[in-house]
Amino acid sequence: MNSVILRLNPVYQKIYKRAKPFLQTRKNVIHTQIALRYALKLLKKEEGDEGIVIPAILLHDVGWKALPEPLQLTAFGPNPSNPNLTRLHEREGARIAKSILEKLHYPSQKIEEICQIINGHDSRKRPLSWNDRVVKDADKLWRYSRKGMAIDLDRFHMPRRDYLIFLEASIEPWFLTPTGMGLAKKEILLRKRDKP
Ligand SMILES: [Fe+2]
Ligand SMILES: [Fe+2]
Repeated sequence: MNSVILRLNPVYQKIYKRAKPFLQTRKNVIHTQIALRYALKLLKKEEGDEGIVIPAILLHDVGWKALPEPLQLTAFGPNPSNPNLTRLHEREGARIAKSILEKLHYPSQKIEEICQIINGHDSRKRPLSWNDRVVKDADKLWRYSRKGMAIDLDRFHMPRRDYLIFLEASIEPWFLTPTGMGLAKKEILLRKRDKP
């Protein structure tokens, strides 16, 4: 298992183990691990309940498994042609997450909040809570990581220079916590220095 997962409390490791089969699409295993790394960083500085944030991050994209891969690519990115599919992966994700968490006897109040966060994690612009802010920022920070950016560039067929401009311009409108915004700014500087 990946080192960031191995460092988690056993209850979260169990959630990850059940989420993993649903993450075997769209590079979601690596996406989830990188988003988790950012979520753990954010939780050190920002308000947020790890009992909500960690399961929400581990499970937020399990719903993509319900969509065939060629269709997934039309749902997201700088110019999505089929954005309603984004809603579908959110709704499916909330349904799958609920069943995983119930099987693990996770506290029901927490399940409700986790599923609310998942059901809208991409489409809902206004955050529901501090927990939601942390989840949204961790998810978006993936795009600024070296690995995430390389994967997205490959998907979107956009010149690297243009994509960097798009990502830099998106920092202000996207990020909801000061720590998330700071990390995005730091990462974009590093990406500019990376060898293409
Ligand atoms: Fe998503
Ligand atoms: Fe995501």
